Amino acid sequence: MTRVDAGTVQADTTLQVLHWWTSASERKAATLLASRLADEGVAWRDVGIPGGAGIGAGKVLKSRVLANDAPEVTQIIGVSIREWADLGFLLELDKVATANKWSNSFFPTIQTLIQHRKHVVAAPLGIHRINTLFYNRKLFNSLKLSPPESWDELVLLAARLKAAGVIPLAQSSEPWQVATLFENLILAESGPDYHRELFVKQNAQAVFDKRFTQALERLRLMKNWMNNPVDERPWTDVVRQFSKNEAAMMITGDWVKGELNELGFATDEAFSCTPMPGTGKYHLYSVDTLSMFTNDYSRVLAQEKLARLVATPAVQADYNAVKGSVSVRRDADPARMDSCARASWHAFAQGAATQAPSLVHRMATDESSKDAIIAVIHRYFIDATVTPADTQARLAAMFKTFGSNKKQNP
Ligand code: GAL
Repeated sequence: MTRVDAGTVQADTTLQVLHWWTSASERKAATLLASRLADEGVAWRDVGIPGGAGIGAGKVLKSRVLANDAPEVTQIIGVSIREWADLGFLLELDKVATANKWSNSFFPTIQTLIQHRKHVVAAPLGIHRINTLFYNRKLFNSLKLSPPESWDELVLLAARLKAAGVIPLAQSSEPWQVATLFENLILAESGPDYHRELFVKQNAQAVFDKRFTQALERLRLMKNWMNNPVDERPWTDVVRQFSKNEAAMMITGDWVKGELNELGFATDEAFSCTPMPGTGKYHLYSVDTLSMFTNDYSRVLAQEKLARLVATPAVQADYNAVKGSVSVRRDADPARMDSCARASWHAFAQGAATQAPSLVHRMATDESSKDAIIAVIHRYFIDATVTPADTQARLAAMFKTFGSNKKQNP
């Protein structure tokens, strides 16, 4: 491996980075990382695959690995890290982690997420909060509305907005976006323990709980607050509708904040955020991480440089401010964050009891179980003839199969 001086970039220090950051703010965040990496003499060759929540990127990654053409770096998150590490593809980053005291610097949940069989196999970027309700301040002010703090307030608010001719909720019928709303409803109704019981433990019995029925009924009710029909469109289109004052609220992850800022809408001026009613103390999280494929080990030094760099206090602060997420570091400075980020960071800092791993964003379960669960929820959402009872029976049957698969292949 040739040594390079800072500022110069040589061929063997080029890293292909596969990710799904293709919106304006996501691109800006990736460019920020690329330019800091270039300062250290390593070139970031960008491979951005469109598709919210990484639906497209996951498929491209699989086919590239099968073709023996794995990128050196990839955005893989949550349980997917374990899946790839199990197959032996991921570079162990223990040296970087020890030298930079990662075990003292990150929140415990982050520590667990980036490790597999006691080895560090991912570098953390930021924590997104999925239980975020964005509201349009202009519309709220003109109708003298305050942000909702309970389900009942949300229902009243939606009725007032509708009466004023405003679409209460900007939403897409893309499966992952529907399931994002649904997992918010589950969390609001029952808290992180029940959310885990369903999506991590996949307890078939828990699906028949009244709280599950209630969340399904609420999801259907909320459909009346959306565009009719609810189009299947990328999340960036939903953000645009919200930003043009064509809808009053959005319930989703705070990458939306990054995007609104990038489109020129300032936090606490054009819009503000508040937790999804009923989830104020909770943090439904998705943690973005980068893992490195070992390939022929020829880029290890460059890969380690990138891993070290992304977790430094300075890059954490700057990157997360653009991306809409918050730092994975316990020593981050909340005074440098806007109100949404500060609330998210403080909520996450409360620890595991208030945290819920997002189903949709791969924090709760493996890729195929996640996709199967999302498909059942989506079907219920789009087809009014499917009842809550049908949906519960379908999911419970599915959970039983997953359980016996897991027993056979522990
Ligand atoms: C999440 C990811 C975010 C954002 C979002 C929308 O899975 O954590 O960084 O990109 O998908 O695509």
